[in-house]
Amino acid sequence: MMILHSSPASPFVRKVRIAIALLGLGDRIEMREADLNAAADPVRRDNPLGKIPALVREDGRVLYDSRVILDYLDHLAGGGRIVPREAEARFAALTLQALCDGALDASVLIVYEGRYRPKEMHVAAWIERQAAKVERALAALEQTAPPLSGTPHVGQIALVCLLGYRDFRFDGGWRSTYPRLHAWHDAFAAAVPAFASTAPPG
Ligand code: BEZ
Repeated sequence: MMILHSSPASPFVRKVRIAIALLGLGDRIEMREADLNAAADPVRRDNPLGKIPALVREDGRVLYDSRVILDYLDHLAGGGRIVPREAEARFAALTLQALCDGALDASVLIVYEGRYRPKEMHVAAWIERQAAKVERALAALEQTAPPLSGTPHVGQIALVCLLGYRDFRFDGGWRSTYPRLHAWHDAFAAAVPAFASTAPPG
């Protein structure tokens, strides 16, 4: 059995959980909730960065981050399922994933600023800089989100997790500004039951 260091709130873990469901690998991977603030948590032994998700394989080798894990899961499932085989399609999917992960990184930094830094130490210009990255990414995605057909690829999985995280931590304000993304999100949710079943706690 493999072990996935995880947290129900992490959008990067959600990417992995959706991929596990799409690829039918659920019976090979045990979820282990990490306490990211605890020095003794095993995630720090398995990933020196102390970050989730981290996947411990049956032979003890560890994979991180979510992009590497998704690639590995695709390989386990035979390849070409969520990572396109054809070169141009693969580069497009990986670039979409990088854009969405970058917008997620910026979103998480804003959340962590509020959670871990005292209010008097907040730097408005720095938070605005992160928020601007997210807005530019969402504006680009409104024009370019690839239509869904068949099994979603890694870029589309990352996109739906970005939108889900904006709902979870930022009140879903993107929905009225980006109607095409709104429709795209709803189509994904209707097509992939794992999106609802991996929703963060309310
Ligand atoms: C969150 O609580 O928003 C969160 C938790 C783990 C990783 C990233 C974000």
